Amino acid sequence: MSRILTVRGGVPLKGRIQVRGAKNLVPKAMVAALLGNAPSTLRNVPEIKDVEVVTSLLQLHGVTVVKDPVTGDLTLDPANAKTASSSEINTHAGDSRIPILLCGPLIHSIGHAFIPDLGGCKIGDRPIDYHLEVLRKFGAVVDKTGGGILISAPHGLKGTKISLPYPSVGATEQVLLSATRAEGITELSGAATEPEIIDLIAILQKMGAIISVQTDRTIRIEGVNELSGYVHTALPDRNESASWASAALVTGGDIYVEGASQRDMMTFVNTFRKIGGGMDIHDDGIRFYHKGGDLKPLVLETDVHPGFMTDWQQPLVVALTQAEGVSIVHETVYENRFGFTNALTRMGANIQLHRECLGSVPCRFGQRNFIHSAVISGSTPLTGTTIDVPDLRGGFSHMIAALAAQGTSTVTGIDIISRGYEKFTAKLDGLGADFDVHESSKVLR
Ligand code: EPZ
Repeated sequence: MSRILTVRGGVPLKGRIQVRGAKNLVPKAMVAALLGNAPSTLRNVPEIKDVEVVTSLLQLHGVTVVKDPVTGDLTLDPANAKTASSSEINTHAGDSRIPILLCGPLIHSIGHAFIPDLGGCKIGDRPIDYHLEVLRKFGAVVDKTGGGILISAPHGLKGTKISLPYPSVGATEQVLLSATRAEGITELSGAATEPEIIDLIAILQKMGAIISVQTDRTIRIEGVNELSGYVHTALPDRNESASWASAALVTGGDIYVEGASQRDMMTFVNTFRKIGGGMDIHDDGIRFYHKGGDLKPLVLETDVHPGFMTDWQQPLVVALTQAEGVSIVHETVYENRFGFTNALTRMGANIQLHRECLGSVPCRFGQRNFIHSAVISGSTPLTGTTIDVPDLRGGFSHMIAALAAQGTSTVTGIDIISRGYEKFTAKLDGLGADFDVHESSKVLR
C-alpha cells in the first residue's frame, strides 16, 4: 500500500538538510564488491530503496551484506558468491535497472548471470542494447529466455575495443565492471565521464584495477587476475542537492544543503545563478535561497557531463514556471522526459511541449517524433490539485510544485520518491513544510 502526501502549499522551505551518498554511485559500488577477493566497506550510504533492492539481490547471490547500525556503512563479503534462481531474481529486482550491471562481476565469479526484464523510471524505453553489445564483445554468450536474459562466458571475458554510439552511463559502467578482471586490455571510446563514473573508477583502482581516463572520452583498462576489497566513502548525491536547491527557489525559501559538492555541480551552480537564485558556497555544503524579486527565464539544454544533467531538469522546470518570461528546455538525453509537466499544467503552469530540437544542437531525437522540448511561460500561480507521481525526479518536482501552490494537493505514489531521496518526508518536516503523510485513511505523521 503506497503512502499519500496531503500538502498545504504556500510555505517557504527554510532550514538545513543533509545529502549523503549518490544514488547513482552507491548501488554500482556495491556490485563492484563482487569482483574482490576480500570484503569491502562502503561509507556514506543513504537509506534509499535502490540500496535495499541491490542488497537483497547481492544476498540472493551469496554475498553477505552487513549494515553498521550506527553509521549505516555496508560491509560486503563476496566469498560465497553463488547462482540464484531467475524467479528469485525477478522477485527481488523490482523496477531497478541494476541487475544488468551484475553481469560482468557474476560472470567473473560464477561464470554466468540471469537478467530479468528491467524496470527503471518511465522516461523513455530505457533499452539495454549497448550493454548486451558490450558483453558480446567481451566474449559473453547472450541468450534471451522467457522473462529475461541468460548470459554466460565459457571461456571467460577477454579485453576488447569498444566504441559507444552515445556516452551511456550504464554502458560505461558495464565496461568497467567487466574489463577490470578480463584477460588483456580494453579500450572504450565515447565513454561517459560523470562524477559517479569517476568515483566508480576510484573504487576499482583501490581494488587493484589499472584504469586511465584520457582527454577524448577514451577509457583504457588493463585486465588483472584478481582484485582486493575496498574501503570507500561514496561521493555526495549531486542530483538530490540540485533538487533541494530548486525547492528553495520554487517555495521562496532558504535551504542549506550539507554535503552538496560544488565540484560536481559546476554547471548547475552557473544555471542557478543565471535564473537569479542566491548561493553561499562552503566546503561542507551550499546554501541555496530565493533572493526575493523576479526569477529570470532561461534557455537550457541538457547534456552528458559536464553539461547540464538531465536529472536536474525536472525540479528546475518547476522554478521556471515562476520566472518572469519565456524559458526553453531542450532535453537531449532521454526521449520522453516531460511527461511530468502534465500535472504542472493542471496546476496552472503554462508549458508547451514540442517535437523539434529547441536548442543549439540537433540531438538524436530531432526527426524521430519525440516530444523533447518545452517552452515555459511564467510566472503563473500554481493551484493545489490531485497528483499521481510518475517517476523519481518528476515525483520530486510534483512535490515541490504542491509545496509552492496555493491550496491543498493530494500526492499519491510517493514511495517512488524514496528510491532516490533519503528520508524526504523527515527533511520536509525539518524545513517547515505543512503536510500529512497517510496510508488510505490512517494519518502516519
Ligand atoms: C543513469 O541511467 C542514471 N541512473 C540516470 O539517473 C541518469 O539520468 C542517466 O544515467 C544519465 O546520466 C543510474 O545511474 C541508476 P544512460 P542510465 O545509459 O545508465 C540510451 C535518476 O533519476 N541508452 O546514460 O540508464 C538511453 O535510453 C536516473 O537518477 C540506449 O539507447 O542512462 C538514454 O537515452 C534517471 N541503450 C541514453 O542512452 C543502452 O543500452 C542515456 O542513458 C543504454 C542507454
